[in-house]
Amino acid sequence: MPVITCIDDLKRLHRKRTPKMFYDYCESGSWTEQTFRENTTDFDRIRLRQRVAVDMEGRSTAAKMIGQDVAMPVALAPVGLTGMQRADGEIRAARAAEQFGVPFTLSTMSICSIEDVAAHTTKPFWFQLYVMRDQDFLKNVIRRAQDAGCSALVLTLDLQILGQRHKDLKNGLSAPPKLTPAVIADLATKWQWGLEMLRTKRRGFGNIIGHAKGVDDPSSLFTWTAQQFDPRLDWSKVEAIRDMWGGPLILKGVMEPEDAVMAAKTGCDAIVVSNHGGRQLDGALSSIRMLPAILDAVGDRVEVHLDSGIRSGQDVLKALAMGAKGTYIGRAFVHGLGAMGEKGVTAALEVIRRELDISMALCGRKSVQEFDRDMLRVPEDFTGRWM
Ligand code: GLV
Repeated sequence: MPVITCIDDLKRLHRKRTPKMFYDYCESGSWTEQTFRENTTDFDRIRLRQRVAVDMEGRSTAAKMIGQDVAMPVALAPVGLTGMQRADGEIRAARAAEQFGVPFTLSTMSICSIEDVAAHTTKPFWFQLYVMRDQDFLKNVIRRAQDAGCSALVLTLDLQILGQRHKDLKNGLSAPPKLTPAVIADLATKWQWGLEMLRTKRRGFGNIIGHAKGVDDPSSLFTWTAQQFDPRLDWSKVEAIRDMWGGPLILKGVMEPEDAVMAAKTGCDAIVVSNHGGRQLDGALSSIRMLPAILDAVGDRVEVHLDSGIRSGQDVLKALAMGAKGTYIGRAFVHGLGAMGEKGVTAALEVIRRELDISMALCGRKSVQEFDRDMLRVPEDFTGRWM
């Protein structure tokens, strides 16, 4: 078993062990990838205040996200095609998350279905919804998430159309992969991935194939989004979905204060400041830069979470110290999954918890409830002056 000291260790193994098309899918942003890059480099601009002679015994990272107990306020973000990073990927990741005590969010565009994940886990997970044109599909998928006991619906607001990620087009991304000569040559060096994939039946979009109709190429994410995702999503539809679901609701993809205010008005339980990991609107500011303005806009009216750019426990600490009540990791756990399956997801969570725990101790805090801005050194021009 390799010694894993940081998320980058898992990333290197992920790259080595996973077909290029799926590694690239994970490690891409849209267009020029400016937003994708700045999501992480902006975290690096924030520094921590080292405090000394503070009793650091008896620390805890435990907290609550939307009233639910979490071992640390870090949920696994919804990631499409996770079951292509490693066979049965969503089941493995969900099991690691439940064992660790953090929420797992299943993407609509997952490979393992809602029912499959529910059958292989014992605790409720969260379900992320993309809104499709087909109303029967929409009602049905919400009912399926209710029947599976999902304890929150995470409604994504920033992907009615798909941002272009160049590598996906060049690689001919599909699930399962089409066996072109280039793909076969790549798979020849990823034999463990291939053997596991041959042993599972879960190789297509498990939540939608057999449930939604009328898509020309059911293996293509581009075709699904172009033909089925509902570009007419607006606040009235968000409210209709809230009523259909009737349970805890998280609205994901909010990047501007006026949208945060609209989102809070729906009565949702949390909003996620997110630019979809830099995969949608290239040119948007990083999530961490937008966080202060969004917190100012909504105050205590709604819980504010953050994703996009978190690769370490120090990043988690920075987001929480700025005022977020929860964070999400996407790529960081997918690197673990691609590297070492369920054990790798656990390793990713352990890395992040260790970093969070030690960093908070060295900042003079014993629990995440004690976090505040005083732990940070934020450059004066961090949020910037934008017209
Ligand atoms: C969502 O499914 C994405 O590819 O970002």
